[in-house]
Amino acid sequence: MGQLHLNQVKKFYGHFEVIKGVELDVTDGEFVVFVGPSGCGKSTLLRMIAGLDDVTSGDIIIDGARVNDLPPVKRGIAMVFQSYALYPHMTVFENIAFPLRVEKMAEDKLKARVEHAARILHLDQRLQQKPGMLSGGQRQRVAIGRAIVREPKIFLFDEPLSNLDAALRADMRIELAKLHHQLQATMIYVTHDQIEAMTMADRIVVLNAGEIAQIGEPLELYHKPANKFVAGFIGNPKMNFLPVTCKSVTEAGVEVDYKGQTALLPVTPRDGVVGRELTLGIRPEHVQLGGGDISLTIVPSVIERLGAQTVAYAALESNAGENFCATLPGSVAIRTEMPLVTGIRIADCHLFDEEGLAFERRVELTDIDMELLNPTAPA
Ligand SMILES: Nc1ncnc2c1ncn2[C@@H]1O[C@H](COP(=O)(O)OP(=O)(O)O)[C@@H](O)[C@H]1O
Ligand SMILES: [Mg+2]
Repeated sequence: MGQLHLNQVKKFYGHFEVIKGVELDVTDGEFVVFVGPSGCGKSTLLRMIAGLDDVTSGDIIIDGARVNDLPPVKRGIAMVFQSYALYPHMTVFENIAFPLRVEKMAEDKLKARVEHAARILHLDQRLQQKPGMLSGGQRQRVAIGRAIVREPKIFLFDEPLSNLDAALRADMRIELAKLHHQLQATMIYVTHDQIEAMTMADRIVVLNAGEIAQIGEPLELYHKPANKFVAGFIGNPKMNFLPVTCKSVTEAGVEVDYKGQTALLPVTPRDGVVGRELTLGIRPEHVQLGGGDISLTIVPSVIERLGAQTVAYAALESNAGENFCATLPGSVAIRTEMPLVTGIRIADCHLFDEEGLAFERRVELTDIDMELLNPTAPA
């Protein structure tokens, strides 16, 4: 078993509240990713779960037992860090075996565990080598092996791939997803990289300045971000935000005005917003060529040709030259400084109030899943 419950967990450094009352349940076997910008408290939260940092108040409960006062080794967790922290003079075998030597495990049992972990991690041919002979990715696998042999209830990872180059990071993401499938163990993974979060997590916890901004499955966060912070953090390039005015509210949704163009957003209506300044959110990948429910003329200043896609970074003429980003087809014939008419479909848009809280979109995630499975299905 590997269940975790965080009950109103807080952490102060002096007067500075780093973690502001986090409440979270992680079920057995789940892969949960904590994601957020640098300094938002991800490592602090993970270290408190591990027992490497004290909790100022609140409870950490693993499999029903409060572990606040237990030392790290007694919590049934194993942690993997960004720095591999391997012993250079020891072989791969001894590096992986290290925590079992500390426990004084019998030699035959220890050997079986190390060899099992090495097979899972494709290190079986490397056991007699020293870490200095290994690549970065292999070294990180040794560090993961050292966690596996402890057979923890919960694996904790703190940015384990950040030292690797981009290609290796992508490979290791897949390896870690496979490892999770194979071990069926509870894993909590910290990263600042939303792509790692989106690709590996069963559920993502988005942290902002020590608070949970939203918890949800990857596509839930993408399609139904609860606030502007999550909307801007999940998705790449970042969501565009446009200032709009609320014209009217009906059963059908909220009608907004953008510089004289009006459109009705299919969101759950709210009272008291008519006349208010709201924010319309549109992802770059939802900007299309030609017009739309709202048309926008953009003047690209930088064009990135990625092959499959072309990303245009532009100034928006209608909004005081504000930055605007559009992801367009790879072969599109656009040039910098040449005005381009684009458009957005209102059904793709997000709407936020003055506090940055999202209006609930009337879109079923099951419909979106169907759309993803069968993009040509009629609406
Ligand atoms: N030992 C410490 N003493 C004082 N402040 C700390 C300490 N450790 C972390 N902090 C502060 O707590 C905040 C969260 O840090 P951290 O958890 O490392 O963020 P993240 O891992 O999300 O980048 C930061 O503002 C950091 O400066
Ligand atoms: Mg950190």
